[in-house]
Amino acid sequence: MNIILMGPPGAGKGTQAELIKAAYPIPHISTGDMFRAAVGQGTELGKEAKKYMDSGKLVPDEVTIGIVEERLAQPDCATGFLLDGFPRTTGQAQALDKVLEKQNKKIEAAISISVPDEIIIERMSGRVSCKECKAVYNIKFNPSIKAGICDKCGGELFQRSDDNIETVSNRLAVYKEQTNPLLSYYQKQNVLHEVNGNRDASEVFKDIKKLLERF
Ligand code: AP5
Ligand code: MG
Repeated sequence: MNIILMGPPGAGKGTQAELIKAAYPIPHISTGDMFRAAVGQGTELGKEAKKYMDSGKLVPDEVTIGIVEERLAQPDCATGFLLDGFPRTTGQAQALDKVLEKQNKKIEAAISISVPDEIIIERMSGRVSCKECKAVYNIKFNPSIKAGICDKCGGELFQRSDDNIETVSNRLAVYKEQTNPLLSYYQKQNVLHEVNGNRDASEVFKDIKKLLERF
């Protein structure tokens, strides 16, 4: 099962990825999580990525494609993977196709979660994530049982530095300009599925599960 989760910032990609992971044993590959881990560790990659992430811009393709290619070569991706937040540019999508072609694989479904801008802004202001297991919560829509503590692992919850209103607006603009064209890229490959993300997360997951049952 080779799947891509697409959608604007705050569409619920991470939230749905957690539900998918719990139902299907495939690795969840989030380039955003990978960059945030590198920032946290203070590596060269992290220092480079932080410059772009803080302003809501995309990390350059050559950097991003390299880390995904390396990740997809890991043994746990042999029988499938769930990409979250990659690809985000036509260059990344073309590079991904080339990598997969070499391994005799292809993308089987590109699931695009759509949510109106005003809902996104509201969601982002309330998002908190676990430092340890990356679980995603929302102080308004999906709070943890104990404020500031992850229900799943007891880790500390934090607010992402790129969730301020200015950076979120930039991320939305970047999504529309650079990532939206990918919808027609995957439509042409007959693998695009659009899902209405402006409903309860469990309702959104029901639709995604129906799609994934085919594989
Ligand atoms: P990344 O981490 O990928 O961020 P993003 O795409 O902007 O998406 P988010 O993670 O913000 O949102 P999400 O869709 O996962 O929503 P979530 O489930 O958390 O990227 C960050 C940065 O890294 C980029 O700006 C860029 O700089 C860089 N980067 C990453 N990938 C790159 C690439 N490929 N190329 C270049 N640069 C790259 O949900 C959001 C909130 O809403 C949560 O609080 C959640 O609880 C709540 N929520 C979710 N679903 C629902 C629902 N159905 N109803 C109510 N609330 C909900
Ligand atoms: Mg995410």
